[in-house]
Amino acid sequence: VLEELKGSRRGTLTIAVASTATYFALHLLGRFHQRFPEANISLDVTNRKSLLRHLEENTIDMAIMGKPPEGLEVVAKPFMENPLVVIAPPAHPLAGQRVPLTVLRQETFILREHGSGTRIAMERFFARLGATITSSMEISSNEAIKQAVQAGFGLGIVSQHTLEKELALRRLVILEVDSFPIMRHWYIVYRKNKRATALHKAFKKLVFEEAREQSITFN
Ligand code: PGA
Repeated sequence: VLEELKGSRRGTLTIAVASTATYFALHLLGRFHQRFPEANISLDVTNRKSLLRHLEENTIDMAIMGKPPEGLEVVAKPFMENPLVVIAPPAHPLAGQRVPLTVLRQETFILREHGSGTRIAMERFFARLGATITSSMEISSNEAIKQAVQAGFGLGIVSQHTLEKELALRRLVILEVDSFPIMRHWYIVYRKNKRATALHKAFKKLVFEEAREQSITFN
């Protein structure tokens, strides 16, 4: 195994991650790079729809995504929770209160684009309530959504993993809404028939080790 690993140190890891997962994926890849400095890493940061296409067309070694694809022969392993929270500017009238869902339904939201896993989860949540979402804008980036919330376009629903900086700098707050967070999970996903090199196996192992060790700071 050692020999195999030595030989594969120069290999390539071709990975695609949901844009929402970049906040911790780069940390994982950083640890990987420390252990395998000679390995080439190719990273595509994209949304759920493109991740599905990558898996379908077999153009990546693995993906990190919010929900495994259906109808495709894949191995999907959850490794970390992905809580979706409601964000508002600190001066918002609902900040610091317990917010019932009936009140949330009357708010205006900034939505992610079609094809985003976050968007799908949010739409499912509102559909279960029998509510329609009032939206002011649709944006294809978590970073821009946070800025739009700060600029007063409405509330956002984003993964808590995207918020470290804004919460620390008190630029945004998480509203305490009933039934929130919407709890999802992050999965590592790859095609069942994919031949895994020692390098690929090492990365998968590292993801689970890091998720266990870092669960406090990741959440
Ligand atoms: P996304 O994240 O919203 O950036 O597509 C993937 C997911 O949460 O499934």
